[in-house]
Amino acid sequence: MPAPIVAVTRSLPAPGVAPLLAAGFEVRHRDVDGPCPPDELHELVRGVDGVFALLSERIDEAFLDAAGPQLRVVANMAVGFDNVDVAACTARGVQVTNTPDVLTDATADLAWALILGAARRIPEADRLVRSGTWQGWRPMDLLGLTVAGKTLGILGMGKIGSAIARRATGFGMRIRYHNRTPSPEAAALGAELVDRATLFATSDVVVLAAPATPETHHVVDAAALATMRRSAILVNVARGTLVEESALVEALRAGTITAAGLDVYEFEPRLVDGLTACENTVLLPHLGSSTIEARAAMVELACGNITAVLGGRAPLTPVNDLTPRG
Ligand code: DGY
Repeated sequence: MPAPIVAVTRSLPAPGVAPLLAAGFEVRHRDVDGPCPPDELHELVRGVDGVFALLSERIDEAFLDAAGPQLRVVANMAVGFDNVDVAACTARGVQVTNTPDVLTDATADLAWALILGAARRIPEADRLVRSGTWQGWRPMDLLGLTVAGKTLGILGMGKIGSAIARRATGFGMRIRYHNRTPSPEAAALGAELVDRATLFATSDVVVLAAPATPETHHVVDAAALATMRRSAILVNVARGTLVEESALVEALRAGTITAAGLDVYEFEPRLVDGLTACENTVLLPHLGSSTIEARAAMVELACGNITAVLGGRAPLTPVNDLTPRG
């Protein structure tokens, strides 16, 4: 019997495609460190049994048509799967998997880097020193915000939200959160479940850690920003579509809120006009899971999912449920 074919859409960090080769698959690897345009993607996946996919690729009906009916698994190397039409995959019997847990700490650490970077104006300070115009210690230099004793509001209390909250206890912050269901872990940390409006209106730092869904689309829009404290900081480590980015630019310009720390963007990788000109922002290129350890574990897990499904076993971290109903 010929070996199952697995398409890999981009260059990967270590261990790369080694686990797929070790499992005996024929690997069709597009070893290019750049986005895969839809036409090339569709050509790459034609006739394959499994796909190692990234969040920058759209797994939609056109993709599934191009791949063909033999496709059995799409392993997304991300915890988020808003790039995947899960219903379409389920309808065709294609298993979708993601990479939860292994990137939780890396992403929570990055959220804290953004919180502290925005609160203490780290990019502005770095630019000042590099500019050669710094004249030494001044009592008024780049005054930031103390986070200790302030209120941290977390939208989305999943694993990443909980890990951000755990870190907040070390900074002596009061924690509030909004989530579809109460979180026992958050309760154990002393975090208070509040409605969304209260979260926005009473937090000094608002962190977005919820998945991209129709319910969370533009959850931070002009109206929500207007209810936030003028001293507030907004941090987004979830998905760019949670924020109406043009409204955020207006809010930063007008001083409606004080600062923002963003790792994700509404039209990624494009930024809306005016965002880069806002001094009071920390702008990162979607680095949440970008540690050597987390990325290696994501690759291992995605490969493990492909190996399990193509080997006739249950996926390790399934997104959809393919068990027949009835
Ligand atoms: C994810 O996993 O969803 C991140 O955004 C990328 O690591």
